[in-house]
Amino acid sequence: MKILHVVGARPNFMKMAPIMREMSQYPAEFEQLLVHTGQHYDAAMSQIFFDELEMPQPDVNLEVGSGSHAWQTAQIMQRFEPVLLDYQPDWVLVPGDVNSTLACALVASKLGVKVAHVEAGLRSFDRTMPEEINRVLTDHLADLLFTTEPSGNKNLRQEGIPEEKIRFVGNTMIDTLVQLLPKAEARWPQLRARFQLDRYVLVTLHRPSNVDDPGTLTEIVAALQEISRQIPVIFPVHPRTREHLNRLNLFHPKSEIANLKFLEPLGYLDFLALQAHAALVLTDSGGVQEETTYLGVPCLTARPNTERPVTVTEGTNSIGCSYSHLAAVLRPTQVRP
Ligand code: UD1
Ligand code: UDP
Repeated sequence: MKILHVVGARPNFMKMAPIMREMSQYPAEFEQLLVHTGQHYDAAMSQIFFDELEMPQPDVNLEVGSGSHAWQTAQIMQRFEPVLLDYQPDWVLVPGDVNSTLACALVASKLGVKVAHVEAGLRSFDRTMPEEINRVLTDHLADLLFTTEPSGNKNLRQEGIPEEKIRFVGNTMIDTLVQLLPKAEARWPQLRARFQLDRYVLVTLHRPSNVDDPGTLTEIVAALQEISRQIPVIFPVHPRTREHLNRLNLFHPKSEIANLKFLEPLGYLDFLALQAHAALVLTDSGGVQEETTYLGVPCLTARPNTERPVTVTEGTNSIGCSYSHLAAVLRPTQVRP
């Protein structure tokens, strides 16, 4: 069976690495091709994960880069089509909810190639999120839908997806976490010394609704400064966020003394170690909500909703946290001792 795997953006690597590794155990059964769309391209957003997750280098890089949604999606489609026609896979595997996911699913589907969606069925029910549109459309194109939590199965059923296409398989991003946690832990003493860490809050933010609007972002940074008077704040900054912070002249990467530390995006192992030891994680990331739940670390999600409700009902996640009120809600009970 010929399998074509698609990756494009940071969270895709953690989801696909364990699947590729497992399939490589059966070389007589699976031939694999890895296509990177190039949606993320900075070394800190892409190459470092191939090294740390021990993923094979992509066989093909479409080198699409950044642009508007329409431009990026269309470019990926145009560049992916000849690769697909040339390789003739039996299945295309697409992970998550980024533009690369939808673009490649659409191309494959139109060419009659079967599509499997890894992390199917998640719904925030918020169509202002570009990811929600990608999720819904990809699920309706897919021939096989791999879900990570029971809400996924329920959502797909409600949308009329036939039961026989749905498989509740669990969360491959967490498979990566379980595999690499010992390696991440081994880095902790060094990290701790480097950033002089004791108790701290770890922050990640990149949703357009939080970072693209200058007013909202200014409020967020003010709230983080306020929090940093109580407890050190470590903030590895996503490139989208960095761009907007730079415009507002708010990004101070060299600030070593301040209790609010802006860092470049971190590799997987360092970031995982920082999550595992954080008193609290503040985030708007999808994957980080799941990772903190697995790790048992309190997570405040700066969004009005989540497509991953299991992290709230079974895990450590609280949603609806508004950064403007964050300093006020940050009580000692929410922070691990
Ligand atoms: C994308 C996904 C989002 C996912 C996130 C993971 C879509 C619609 N969005 O958001 O679902 O949560 O990735 O991190 O697919 N940039 C760089 N270097 C890079 C990549 C991006 O500087 O390597 C900058 C560019 O200015 C770019 C901006 O970041 O315009 C946004 O990148 P893009 O891939 O469009 O969206 P993300 O915000 O990264
Ligand atoms: N992550 C990382 N370095 C960072 C921030 C996040 O390695 O500086 C990892 C994180 O542990 C998780 C994944 O990136 O595995 C989540 O990706 P992201 O937040 O970019 O996307 P989302 O999950 O929101 O789509």
